[in-house]
Amino acid sequence: MIAPSTNALYTDLSGYYDLMCADINYESQSDCVRRLHRLFGNQGKRHLDLACGTGPHIRHFIDTGFQSNGLDLNQPMLDQAKLRCPEAEFSLQNMCNFVVDQPYDLITCFLYSIHYSGNVENLRACIESAHAALVDGGVFCFNAVAKNLINNGSFVRHIVNHEGSEFAFKSGWFYGGEGDRQALKLSIEKTTDKVTEEWHDEHPMVAVTFEELTALLEPYFDVTVFEHDYEKLEMWNQNSGNAIFVCVKR
Ligand SMILES: C[S@@+](CC[C@H](N)C(=O)[O-])C[C@H]1O[C@@H](n2cnc3c(N)ncnc32)[C@H](O)[C@@H]1O
Repeated sequence: MIAPSTNALYTDLSGYYDLMCADINYESQSDCVRRLHRLFGNQGKRHLDLACGTGPHIRHFIDTGFQSNGLDLNQPMLDQAKLRCPEAEFSLQNMCNFVVDQPYDLITCFLYSIHYSGNVENLRACIESAHAALVDGGVFCFNAVAKNLINNGSFVRHIVNHEGSEFAFKSGWFYGGEGDRQALKLSIEKTTDKVTEEWHDEHPMVAVTFEELTALLEPYFDVTVFEHDYEKLEMWNQNSGNAIFVCVKR
């Protein structure tokens, strides 16, 4: 058994990233967050997407009138983002310690990527960096998963056919039950002419309860938590393990 790598999906395998995300409705996520920004924000149009990956959200934000830029830790992801969004500027930085030239009205971080901060200390630093990079009243919006509600047996699997190969993508959270670390386990199986290649990634992520996360945010932001449903906005019901956080800079 080959040991899992920590980030092949964002480096050597980055060409497969968009295939893996083929089922994600980026338009509806972007629409929802623009609606949240209209409700909570300052109506400004300067937007930064943290951990932007290949830039699918940035495309939607630009197409609806935002001046959007992106930030990511991995250059192969930014190379694809630049092709998708030539108008945007992309910055190779760690979201746990980033700086901007001019403050933003809206900062987003989609697809649970805030958990890539890795541990609570770095998560706090990420929150501080986002706070410093916003104008007064600016909005920081992201989604998150609660460590105490992770089901280690649950995973998402889907199949995509592409250029003569079948790809099976699988992903799931794993939390060992203690401390501030959890993992995102990912695998890709590519079958071409009955020959299957397999890759396994295990990404170290920060683990928090929503109470812990809110406590980290509250010194900097007014925090509202919504159910993880991009189609209809409902306040978090205190029970579900996925949520959208809307944070307005104090
Ligand atoms: C799950 S992907 C999400 C990409 C994109 N937001 C989307 O919704 O498709 C996570 C992204 O986080 C980036 N990433 C991981 N650690 C990071 C860090 N510390 N700072 C900035 N980006 C990071 C990866 O390179 C990858 O592009």
